[in-house]
Amino acid sequence: MKKFLKIAVIVLLVAAAAVAVYRFAFRKSIPDAPASEQVMAILQQNDCFVCHSQEPELPFYAKLPVIGPQIKEHCLHAVAFTDLAAGLANMDSVSEVTLSMLDHSVTYGTMPMTSYKMIHWGTGFNKKEKSILAAWIRERRGSDEPVCALPDRVDYDSARADLGERLFNDKRISLDGSLNCASCHILEEGGADAGERVSDGINGLVGGVNAPTVYNSALYVRQFWNGRAADLREQAEGPATNPVEMGDQTWDQIVERLKADKALVKEFEALYPGQGLTQWTVTSAIAEFEKKLVTPNCRFDRYLKGDKAAINEQELKGYEAFKENACATCHTGAAMGGQSFERLDIFGNYFADRDPKIEYNSDDDGLKGYTKNDADLHKFKVPTLRNLELTAPYFHDGTFETIEDAVRAMGKYELGKTLSDDQVKAISAFLRTLTGVSPYLHPGQKAAEEKK
Ligand code: HEC
Ligand code: HEC
Ligand code: HEC
Repeated sequence: MKKFLKIAVIVLLVAAAAVAVYRFAFRKSIPDAPASEQVMAILQQNDCFVCHSQEPELPFYAKLPVIGPQIKEHCLHAVAFTDLAAGLANMDSVSEVTLSMLDHSVTYGTMPMTSYKMIHWGTGFNKKEKSILAAWIRERRGSDEPVCALPDRVDYDSARADLGERLFNDKRISLDGSLNCASCHILEEGGADAGERVSDGINGLVGGVNAPTVYNSALYVRQFWNGRAADLREQAEGPATNPVEMGDQTWDQIVERLKADKALVKEFEALYPGQGLTQWTVTSAIAEFEKKLVTPNCRFDRYLKGDKAAINEQELKGYEAFKENACATCHTGAAMGGQSFERLDIFGNYFADRDPKIEYNSDDDGLKGYTKNDADLHKFKVPTLRNLELTAPYFHDGTFETIEDAVRAMGKYELGKTLSDDQVKAISAFLRTLTGVSPYLHPGQKAAEEKK
């Protein structure tokens, strides 16, 4: 029996080695072509699109029992995590998220997974492929790191922003004069509705989702958890006429109300010549103000800019764990979020596990609620992780009260793994280094600046 086993193992090894030699010998060499063509060739030769595409190229044994269902599940997880075929369909405009995804698989050698490599010998990036990919990613992203420091400022029109600041704080926008934008986006407390799972709107009515922070939202690809507004100006039209936020009213009514203020009308005419005070110009001014709400120079940004003493050892360990555990694939770029919509339930049924007191509502559909596309069900805009310690509770439904719990849940639903207590502690310590500097966040500083 023992002898038979030995022979069987030897036969298997010889067969696998023969396949490997065949793969290496006949593996297409990297074409002498522009870098993006080389990148595509490398990914194809390493079977990346076999799993990471809407139409996976399933092998024949995917029809076999036991192993077949496992392969299909891999493919479902793979495309839920990242659809590389779609992300690389246009090589001239590859998103930061796709770049950071590739960066992760190159840096940590995670892909294809070991079980796949064991059958498909010869897959997995070799040294040369790695260096071509890394150089291409660095060139496209402009940096080696998946996270970069916030810019000191985003371009805005200063006079319009000043006008917008007053409107952001103007209760005349709400139907009964009880609320302004700052009621739910408290600037001194992180720009969200600090401590509230959902916000109190007009007449004590409540909405279905947690109010996200307005800080750094100028850096997002779209606005709202489900992306239904293209930009900040379009976004600002929403709350004013939302029956559970600022009231069941039309923009014509709001414009009429504001027009009673002759001085305000004059200001609009001066700053928006030929347009005056309209729905478009009111929301445009508010959006200009929101562009001022960037929070640069947090301790971690100072570290990224070269001040190595700005964070301590535990926080640095947290950043390493953040990268290694693929957190920086979705939470990437300067805002560490806001660049894509991602499935919340890649590895678990989030809504079945949720506190049953929170009823499922249409906001929980995520991106699908806006696009009506089934493939977008439970995809949410990846929230920024900037100023996180000020914006509890977390997630679109405000379920988690501590950073630690939010991090643990990310491990479970996005990565399919249980993060160790040490990892959770270190990552959370790192996330607490992301509170930035803004005169709006620190009004004392603003007052001092104005005195000057
Ligand atoms: C057999 C299917 C399969 C193949 C082939 C495959 N992947 Fe994956 N990939 C997955 C699955 C499943 C996940 C989800 C996370 C996990 O289970 O590890 C994933 C996750 C990822 C992730 C995110 C997390 C991480 O570990 O980096 C990236 C990026 C990725 N794959 C890139 C690639 C690239 C690049 C290739 C080609 C070298 C590739 N994959 C080949 C199945 C596959
Ligand atoms: C009653 C509370 C409330 C008021 C008042 C309110 N908001 Fe919001 N805000 C929210 C909630 C809740 C969301 C999330 C809604 C969603 O994503 O579906 C949100 C989302 C946003 C976003 C999107 C941020 C992101 O991450 O996508 C911006 C920007 C914003 N609000 C600005 C404003 C402005 C400007 C005003 C005033 C015109 C305003 N809000 C008034 C509660 C409020
Ligand atoms: C596949 C993409 C993806 C990955 C990987 C990922 N996240 Fe997230 N993250 C999201 C999405 C989407 C949400 C929003 C979920 C919701 O609101 O229901 C989120 C929310 C969060 C929040 C709550 C923020 C807030 O303001 O509500 C934290 C904290 C967080 N992630 C940290 C992490 C950490 C730490 C990791 C790695 C262990 C990680 N994420 C990995 C997509 C991802």
